[in-house]
Amino acid sequence: MKKIVLLGYMGSGKSTIGSALASAIGLPYLDLDHQIEQLSQKTVSEIFETKGEIYFRRLESQLFNELLNNNENFVLSLGGGTPCYYNHDDLLQKDGVTSIYLKVSVPILYQRLLKEKEQRPLLARLDDEELQEFIAKHLFEREPYYRKAKHIINCNDISVANIVSEIENKL
Ligand code: S3P
Repeated sequence: MKKIVLLGYMGSGKSTIGSALASAIGLPYLDLDHQIEQLSQKTVSEIFETKGEIYFRRLESQLFNELLNNNENFVLSLGGGTPCYYNHDDLLQKDGVTSIYLKVSVPILYQRLLKEKEQRPLLARLDDEELQEFIAKHLFEREPYYRKAKHIINCNDISVANIVSEIENKL
């Protein structure tokens, strides 16, 4: 079984790197947010608004469990919060699963998220000044969960192609 699971903060490049990696190694690419949206026929923002975050976290956790316990091979990008709710340490460490934390610094995340915060329910209401402080604090709280991955890749100042080949070297 070959399952590659990418984790990291919002804006860390999970989707871009996940789809590039999947085409490089010839595996299907899955995005957990997209799976949730397909299943519920709503966008992530709509789910947060109409059903609330707790409902979203339950659905996210349930789908993550199902995907990691099936027999399919894939590259999967998690949502930024997926490893931080419920206990998923066993899934990240499971045989046949290569879990990778894409580590990106706060200033780079801030630059990226500034342009995209409207589509992200946890960031949409913050003004630009609050954003950097929020990211710094939130990432500090989440890093212990991200560090449960089997590998950590430092993604500052490195191209997508080089990140993909670093990951390939770990498979
Ligand atoms: C979230 C990250 C989002 C999405 C949801 C919550 C988070 O995914 O799952 O908005 O808690 O960090 P991305 O990391 O793909 O943006």
